[in-house]
Amino acid sequence: MKDMQILHPPRHRPQLKKPKWIIILVSLVCMFLVLAYIHPPRDSTTCYIFSSSNCKTISSWLPPPSRQLTDEEIASRVVINNILNAPSIETKNPKIAFMFLSPGSLPFERLWDKFFQGHEGKFSIHIHASRVKPVHSSRYFQNREIRSDKVDWGKISMVDAEKRLLANALKDPDNQHFVLLSDSCVPLRGFDYVYNYLLYTNVSFIDSFEDPGPHGSGRYSNHMLPEVEKKFFRKGAQWFTMKRQHAIIVMADSLYYTKFRDYCRPGMDGRNCYADEHYLPTFFHMFDPNGVANWSVTHVDWSERKWHPKSYTQKDVSYQLIKNISSISESVHVTSDEKRKMTITPCMWNDVNRPCYLFARKFLPETLEKMIDLFPSYTTV
Ligand SMILES: *[C@@H]1O[C@H](CO)[C@@H](O)[C@H](O)[C@H]1NC(C)=O
Ligand SMILES: *[C@@H]1O[C@H](CO)[C@@H](O)[C@H](O)[C@H]1NC(C)=O
Ligand SMILES: *[C@@H]1O[C@H](CO)[C@@H](O)[C@H](O)[C@H]1NC(C)=O
Repeated sequence: MKDMQILHPPRHRPQLKKPKWIIILVSLVCMFLVLAYIHPPRDSTTCYIFSSSNCKTISSWLPPPSRQLTDEEIASRVVINNILNAPSIETKNPKIAFMFLSPGSLPFERLWDKFFQGHEGKFSIHIHASRVKPVHSSRYFQNREIRSDKVDWGKISMVDAEKRLLANALKDPDNQHFVLLSDSCVPLRGFDYVYNYLLYTNVSFIDSFEDPGPHGSGRYSNHMLPEVEKKFFRKGAQWFTMKRQHAIIVMADSLYYTKFRDYCRPGMDGRNCYADEHYLPTFFHMFDPNGVANWSVTHVDWSERKWHPKSYTQKDVSYQLIKNISSISESVHVTSDEKRKMTITPCMWNDVNRPCYLFARKFLPETLEKMIDLFPSYTTV
């Protein structure tokens, strides 16, 4: 017993001292690192203490300091958050605004006429014809053109036309959901299906995904800093549907719009950036990621992997083709880098997996008669 008591103290001593030393040492190192972080070493000698091979400042492997927002950003966030948190106004007669972006006449007016027939009072039509005054073949489309301006493919004027359509459609307080369509779009469903699909959910169908490849984040420019960081940069198809709240937020935004107008354009830093594919996907990813579905309800076939998506000819169109497209219930995104990473996500509508698509493009004008013949059969099931 005695022997053990004598033996114990010398054993304990170093064990008690060790943690103290470690704590002091760790504290000193921490203090040093914090100081180095606040005042990053500028000269290469100090830099070499941290890393002998690839000399980087200490701050490059510590999380970035939280940034002080600019006055404009604070103001912008206040407006966005107030609109998002405001209860949506119920109207007695909710309508859907169908906004057509087209160079001139709409080749599918007679098909859309069938689509709208019998649903008067539940929709409004708005047409932005950027080149030629359209000739109409459906009474629903008469006198529905808004004042338009020139639209250049891939330029900010495309976003401007979208905003012009939204502004005009917002004038009607009954319009609760806004659909952007092109002249080559056709409906895949009957009106009631589309109406219920869009009105009885609380999201906007805005396509948005992260593509690290050259056609995604490769288009990002550091000039967008500090407001738009690369990690928030998203890509998505232009053809959106949007709930009223989101449409108002788009009207309210000038800060982020300006960033994309100035620094996401063809030929920016020797690369081509297209604002209509990045502004809204990035903007809503930053401010309301759960408020957007991340897929577009307008189907398009990119499987040929060409510059333009597949255009459906008269030969392609059949009952089976429409059935095939409208039964798809997963959205697919493929990155544009060598990995061509494919992400498949089930289309969730109010927590239920449902078919993804309500509309499809690009249909050539020659398919009109066939589509009109097929319309009653594919919309009654
Ligand atoms: C939308 O509604 C679902 C339930 O139907 C809810 O879980 C979700 O949080 C809502 N999203 C938003 C953005 O309000
Ligand atoms: C859309 O994607 C974002 C980011 O990946 C995610 O946070 C959000 O939950 C997604 N939205 C829905 C409705 O799943
Ligand atoms: C429809 O889908 C089936 C099964 O995937 C396929 O075999 C067929 O070729 C498709 N038909 C058309 C017209 O796209």
